[in-house]
Amino acid sequence: MNVLQSLQKDHGNFDRVLGLLGEQLTLLQQAELPDFQLMLDIVDYLQNYADLYHHPKEDAIFGYHLERCPEGRTEIELMIRQHVELRQNTSQMRFAIDGILHGDIMLRAEFTERLANFIEQQSDHLKAEETQLFPLFSSLFSAADWRFIEKLIPTRNDPLFGETVEKQYTAILDRIAEVC
Ligand SMILES: [Fe+2]
Ligand SMILES: [Fe+2]
Repeated sequence: MNVLQSLQKDHGNFDRVLGLLGEQLTLLQQAELPDFQLMLDIVDYLQNYADLYHHPKEDAIFGYHLERCPEGRTEIELMIRQHVELRQNTSQMRFAIDGILHGDIMLRAEFTERLANFIEQQSDHLKAEETQLFPLFSSLFSAADWRFIEKLIPTRNDPLFGETVEKQYTAILDRIAEVC
């Protein structure tokens, strides 16, 4: 699997966990009780893997590309800014869910809106990269470029969908198995 394929695989996995968050959003909208612990586990996974590994990996590719070619600069700079915003929003979402699990009071309508915005922002970001940037890199980068990039970014195991699953994420996998 080359770097681009691994990014696409990550996106597919992020879509799956965002789908689970979407189910929890539906429960909230129907005035039912969502699974806040599951939501916390998902947000924790996004923090640990997307924010700490997937986005920095993309940033490295963006930097490599922009040093050589101006094509797509506007879109790339937007994605770089979104990586910062996603990290901040994921951290705020974690803080909110953690607070609720520890007894903080938040209006259902307020939390529902924040969760809906969070899911939308994450999904829109994935779609923008997939439709605007991945095809650009695929058409411009040679095999030698990808080999160079691969050396720039050491591979890290995905703690949820990788070969070894970290214990704190097994509940997410159980939920995915129930859905499929
Ligand atoms: Fe990204
Ligand atoms: Fe991405």
